[in-house]
Amino acid sequence: MRILVVGSGAREHALCWAIAASPLCEALYCAPGNAGIAREATCINIAADDLDGLLGYSQENKIDFVVIGPEQPLVAGLGDQLAAAGIKYFGPDAAAAQLEGSKGFMKDFCARHAIPTAGYARFTDIETAKAHVRAEGAPIVVKADGLAAGKGVTVALTEAEALAALDDAMAGGMFGAAGSEVVIEECMVGEEASYFALSDGKNILALATAQDHKPVGEGDTGPNTGGMGAYSPAPVVDAAMEARILDEIIRPTVAGMAAEGMAFRGVLYAGLMITETGPRLIEYNARFGDPECEVLMARLKSDILPALIASADGQLDKFDLRWHDKAALCVVMAANGYPGSYAKGTAIDGVEAAESEPDVTVFHAGTARDDIGELVAIGGRVLVVTALGETVVAAQSQAYKAVDRLDWPDGFCRRDIGWRAVAREGAREGARERG
Ligand code: AMP
Ligand code: GLY
Repeated sequence: MRILVVGSGAREHALCWAIAASPLCEALYCAPGNAGIAREATCINIAADDLDGLLGYSQENKIDFVVIGPEQPLVAGLGDQLAAAGIKYFGPDAAAAQLEGSKGFMKDFCARHAIPTAGYARFTDIETAKAHVRAEGAPIVVKADGLAAGKGVTVALTEAEALAALDDAMAGGMFGAAGSEVVIEECMVGEEASYFALSDGKNILALATAQDHKPVGEGDTGPNTGGMGAYSPAPVVDAAMEARILDEIIRPTVAGMAAEGMAFRGVLYAGLMITETGPRLIEYNARFGDPECEVLMARLKSDILPALIASADGQLDKFDLRWHDKAALCVVMAANGYPGSYAKGTAIDGVEAAESEPDVTVFHAGTARDDIGELVAIGGRVLVVTALGETVVAAQSQAYKAVDRLDWPDGFCRRDIGWRAVAREGAREGARERG
C-alpha cells in the first residue's frame, strides 16, 4: 500500500516509525514531516492544514490510505474530502471530530448519553457568563469552546481568575473565534489519566492508558504546554477502573455517536479524572496524543497498520493487538523559552549517541536540516526521547540516560517525568520490603 501520514510532530514520527515496519507498507510519505521522519518516509512539503494540497497530492500519487495525525485537518474535514474522492483514511470525519472540535458539543453529547463528566453551562454572552461564575464561586473551570492548541482552559482557583479568563476569551479575543463561546465547568478533583481506544464506528479496540505532564515546570508547575513527557501504562488505572472506563465512557460514546448518525472512526482519546466515585471525562480528543502516542507505539508489539485500516473499514471486531508488558516513558526536549518565545536554528548533536542506549528511540518534532545537512531545532517541542523498561522507574532511568547523551545547549527538559508513577512504585517496593 501507498500511505500518506499527515503532520509534523513526534506523534507523526512515532506513527511513521510503526507504519514503516509493516509488511503492508510499500511506500510511505509524510506531509510535511520533519528531519527525523525523513528516516522513515519521503517528506512532502505540504502543510497539515492545506486540505486542497493534501487531497491533490493523494490523488496524483495514488495514495491508498491517509493517516491524519493532528486535530485541525480532522475538524476542518480533510477526511470528508478524501472520502468524496474515494480515498481511504484513518480518523473521524468532521461531524465526529466535533467531540474534540467543540467542547460545548462534547458536553451536550455527554449529557444526552449520561456519560460522567463535570457539570457545565455554555455561554456566548460575557455578562451572563460572569453572573454564572459569581453565582457558582471558585474553584471553577473556564474553557474556550473551539480548538485553542491546549491553551484555552483556565482552572480558576479564585473568582477573579475566572472573570479574567472570561475577559481574555470573550472580550480580548485571546483564542480568536474559538473563544467567542465558552463552557464553564465544575472543577473535578482526582488524578488524571488518558485512555486510548480505536473505534470503527461500531466496534472498539482498547489500546492502553497513559499519563502526560502538561505544565512546563517540575512538580507540574508553570504554564501549560502541549506536553513535556508521558508514560504508559498509567498505574492509577487498574483492571477494574479500566472496565469502568470502557463501560461508562468509551462504549456509550461510540454507541451514542453511531445512534446520532455521526459514527466515530479513528482513535478516541479520553482525558479522564479518576475521582473517588469513579472515572469522569475531562475532554475528548479525536486523535492520538502527543507525546502519548510515542509511548503507545513504543509498547506496541503488533503491526499497527492493519488495525488503522480496520478502523476505517469497520472490521475492528476481528482484531487484537499485542503489547509489551514493559512500561514506556518519554521525555520532551524543548527549546529554551518554550512555551514562550524561543530561538530557531540552534544546532543539535548527540541524537545517535542517545539512541545507542538500549531500548531507546528518539522521535523528532521541530527538527530540520540546515544548508550543510546538520540537525537544527525549528520548533518549541523538538525531540522526544522514549525508553522501555521493566517498570516506569526503569524506563525513566533509561530515558534520562539517553537525554544526558544529547548535546543541545539551547534546549531543556523536565527531570521529573513520571514522578507520580515512580512514587507509587516506590511505595509498593517499600511495602514489600517491610513485608
Ligand atoms: P483540557 O484541555 O480540557 O484537557 O483541559 C486542560 C487541563 O485542565 C486538564 O488536563 C485538567 O488538568 C484541567 N481541567 C479541565 N477541565 C477540568 C475540570 N472540569 N475539573 C478539573 N480540572 C480540569
Ligand atoms: N498531550 C496532550 C495532547 O496531545 O493533547
